Amino acid sequence: MKEYKLGIIMNGVTGRMGTNQHLIRSICAIREQGGIQVSPDEVITVDPILTGRNENKLKALAERTGVSRWTTNIEKALADTDNQIFFDASSTLHRSRFVEMAAKAGKAVYCEKPTAVTTEEALRLAKLCEDAGVKNGAVQDKLWLPGIRKLKTLINQGFFGEILSVRGEFGYWVFTGHDEDQPAQRPSWNYRKEDGGGIMIDMLCHWRYLVDNVFGPIKSISCRGATHIGERIDEQGNPYKCTADDACYATMELENGILCQFNSSWTVRVRRDDLFVMQVDGSKGSAVVNLRGCQTQGIGVTPKPVWNPDIEQPINFYEGWSEMPDATTYDNAFKIQWELFLRHVALDEPFPYDLRSGAKGVELAEVGIQSWGERKWIDL
Ligand SMILES: NC(=O)c1ccc[n+]([C@@H]2O[C@H](COP(=O)([O-])OP(=O)(O)OC[C@H]3O[C@@H](n4cnc5c(N)ncnc54)[C@H](O)[C@@H]3O)[C@@H](O)[C@H]2O)c1
Repeated sequence: MKEYKLGIIMNGVTGRMGTNQHLIRSICAIREQGGIQVSPDEVITVDPILTGRNENKLKALAERTGVSRWTTNIEKALADTDNQIFFDASSTLHRSRFVEMAAKAGKAVYCEKPTAVTTEEALRLAKLCEDAGVKNGAVQDKLWLPGIRKLKTLINQGFFGEILSVRGEFGYWVFTGHDEDQPAQRPSWNYRKEDGGGIMIDMLCHWRYLVDNVFGPIKSISCRGATHIGERIDEQGNPYKCTADDACYATMELENGILCQFNSSWTVRVRRDDLFVMQVDGSKGSAVVNLRGCQTQGIGVTPKPVWNPDIEQPINFYEGWSEMPDATTYDNAFKIQWELFLRHVALDEPFPYDLRSGAKGVELAEVGIQSWGERKWIDL
């Protein structure tokens, strides 16, 4: 058996995303399944090393996940030729420094989105890696959600006829910390612009790759952000002023004419199927996707309602939809993208989700913020 053993520096993994999605659900899961079997006699195996600032947190996480290597000395980890990949899940504003160090050390670079908070900086990081000749990638996990995979199947099968419009609703209530026994469930830096926070930079990155890949390239955007809640409580229990947007109301026009509206908010309560729900309406059918499921309604079973507030609604609109069955076993979306990146590094297979495509997400966020400031539609 030929083994491609990849040492992976995992930086900032004691945070929410790093611990749960990247370390436990992806790298540990790949290790537990015995690596990635790429042919009957070839396997890619992973050997993570956890890096960060806090020795106690790293040690505890390493013990909890059965990872033998961890260090606060990132330079040393980068100097070790057994480590071929550098991964970063630290908070956004720290990313540049780490990417620079990793590219200089000749490591393949993979990192969380947003890759930066300005397009200029995101493109600079992409070019830096390209010039250093290192493979690189940015997380675009939503593409592998089961609901989105089912939607792509429907699109490929021509279910919708002509796709007319898309409406995405993302969000939930993020507690402010003011209410007794209801602590905040997101880090405080998310609500401070000076620390890289804001829902526009966070979510428009996702909508960029999702829309571009599933429906077609975005032509222009009109966007309104808001900071609905002005004060929250931080991790130390102190009140702080929210300087970043906590809601974003965006409308996008695609080059193919499809219109997309996406609401993203940390200040809404959920009365829908899941934290993200997206309705796609086409001339021959519609679908409503959430994280795992996909409901469809074809033209033949579309009801013909009549507006009459004087009687109880005779149609139960929820009954006219069919749930798409699972067509396969749906693995964790982050893990699927990790496996593609590891194959890219070990076998040179294509990986289009590079830092340059990550920068397009930052561009949409930046132009969205500009649209809000100037109160106008802006072409990308
Ligand atoms: N793909 C997604 O769906 C998704 C979802 C949420 C967040 N994210 C992104 O993931 C990244 C992390 O977000 P999070 O919610 O896990 O935040 P978090 O605050 O929980 O974690 C950040 C981590 O970075 C570490 N860190 C901060 N400064 C550091 C430094 N100087 N050196 C080393 N480590 C440092 C922190 O200790 C912590 O472990 C952000 O860029 C965020 O935008 C992506």
